[in-house]
Formats: sequence, C-alpha cells, structure tokens
Amino acid sequence: MAKVTIDGHSIEVADGTTILQAARMIGGDIVPPTMCYYSKLKTSGGYCRTCIVKVTKGSEKDPRPMPKPVASCRTTVMDGMEVVNITSPEVLEARRGVVEFLLINHPLDCPICDQAGECHLQDLGYEHGLAKTRYDFPRRTFNTIDIGPYIKMHMTRCIMCFRCVKTADQITDYRVHGMLNRGDASEISTYIQKAIDNDFSGNIIDVCPVGALTDRTFRFKSRVWFTKPMDAHRNCTKCSGKVALWLKGNDVLRVTGRKDKWGEVEEFICNECRFEKKDVKDWTIEGPRHIDRHSVISANHYESLAKLKLDIGKQQKALSTKK
Ligand code: SF4
Ligand code: FES
Repeated sequence: MAKVTIDGHSIEVADGTTILQAARMIGGDIVPPTMCYYSKLKTSGGYCRTCIVKVTKGSEKDPRPMPKPVASCRTTVMDGMEVVNITSPEVLEARRGVVEFLLINHPLDCPICDQAGECHLQDLGYEHGLAKTRYDFPRRTFNTIDIGPYIKMHMTRCIMCFRCVKTADQITDYRVHGMLNRGDASEISTYIQKAIDNDFSGNIIDVCPVGALTDRTFRFKSRVWFTKPMDAHRNCTKCSGKVALWLKGNDVLRVTGRKDKWGEVEEFICNECRFEKKDVKDWTIEGPRHIDRHSVISANHYESLAKLKLDIGKQQKALSTKK
C-alpha cells in the first residue's frame, strides 16, 4: 500500500495505482481532466498531457520533488508522495498551455459540431478562458470521409488521443484504422479508405473526446442539450443492451453507451443497439439519465451549473493570486 496526498487530501492505495486513479478515488475538484486516458482501455493515456500535475514530494524514502509536471495517468504513486493539481497556479498555467496546443489545429466548429455540449475540449477551452489563438499559420484541414455506413470522420477536429484506435484494437474483431504518418503530419485514417463495419465499431464514436468521429444516423439532427437522455435496455445477444436513448418528443434521435461521471462508457454496446433500434418500442425505458458532467449538456441540471460556476471561480482565483 502507498499513502499519497493530492491537493491536501490523503488516501491509501494499492501499489501500482496511478496518481490519476488515486485522485478519482478521492473525487471532487482535484481530479485532473483527461483527454486520452480511458480506464476501460488498456495502455491508454500518455498522449495529451491535460492530466499533468506537480509532484512536490517524490516519496517518504526520496522526498525530492519531480523537476517537471508529470502525466498523472501514467505516473504511479509512491508511499509518502505529495501532489498538487488545482492548488498550484503553475499546474493550471501549464494546463492552459496544453489546451492552447490542443486547439492549434482544432477548428472553431462548435456551432455546427454534433459533439458540442458534450465535448471535453470545449469544456477545457471554456474552463481555461481561451477565447483567442496566438497561432498565425494556416491550420491543417482535411476533407470529411465516411468510414463505413455509420461513421463520419472529421480529421480536422482530431486531437490524436489514440482512444479510437485502442477501442478498435481491443473490442472489435479486427482493426482497419490507425494513425498514419508522424509528427504534425499524423492523421487517423482507415487503411486505403476501408470501411469500418464490424459489430462494435460504433464505440469509437463514444470514446472520441471531440467531434472527430460522428454518428451518421444522428448528424445535424439536434443539439444534444435539446434532447432528453433516458436509460433504457433491450434483450440483445451481442451486448448487455443497456444504453442511453437521446429523445426528442418520442423520437429516438441517438443511442449511445451510458457514460459515467468521467465521461467514459460504462459498457461498450453493439452496432445493432446503437444504429438500428431507433424506435421507442424497441426499448424498455428505465427513466431519466442523470448527467454528471458539468458541461453544456447538463445545462438544465441546475445543481451542476452552480458547481461549474464555483469551479471556474476557484481556478480564476488561483490564477489571479499568481499574478
Ligand atoms: S478520431 Fe477522436 S478518438 Fe480517434 S484519435 Fe482523433 S480525437 Fe482521438
Ligand atoms: S490523460 Fe494523461 S496524458 Fe492524456
């Protein structure tokens, strides 16, 4: 066991636990944001750097601080370790820089993007007050492509988090897409434009933290905050059949996996449930789904709105005390 203290909160965790996992066990505001880590996918994390924290004390045995901010999703705790996240203006400033980098090539598509309202990058941009870019060079642009009958790829919006590649690798029978090229020429692509058409391919839409992979059966149908999420289930031979239905009136506009408070799906669902069951009669509706994320998606959840204001206030205060 190892005792770790994050922003003044201590917890004992099993050896091998990462700082991020320990923070999630503590919960609340001190949990770092994640754009590439996904607890349901093996070896995810380590790409985006949004989860950076500062280790102010390495361990009881070796109390030296770590010289640079570290990715909390990839750094395991040591006994006696002390970590700062939201209590460190330096970490907040560094994260602001990371978000600025993530936004270098990302278009301001939010008004027309299906992910708007549930986009982790939109939330991060908002929370860090990045209204403008300092980037003067032309941005990378790509044409949208249909990858299979159900998924549209907007490479221009991709932030190279690798989650979709790992999802296809780990939960579908075979993977026909991946990262091509390197550095600023990298792109997610299907090999020779092959379609993705296996039973669980739709899950890459759910894991994408931005709007780079969109559901062709839902595109432009509605802003998510105008829909009502409901927990529902059906008997399915391929997956658990437990989903979230996004309703407008009695119309099922979209079917997704149920996402937890970290924005990760609880269980991966099959394409039949996701794309082919768009009638309320196909489902047993359990009741309204509570949305934990404080994002535009939870605009009508008033308790979340109050919490978001509080969080932003705290971050602004931490930044202003630094100046
Ligand atoms: S398409 Fe989405 S999930 Fe895949 S690497 Fe890009 S941002 Fe990540
Ligand atoms: S979430 Fe840790 S590096 Fe991306």
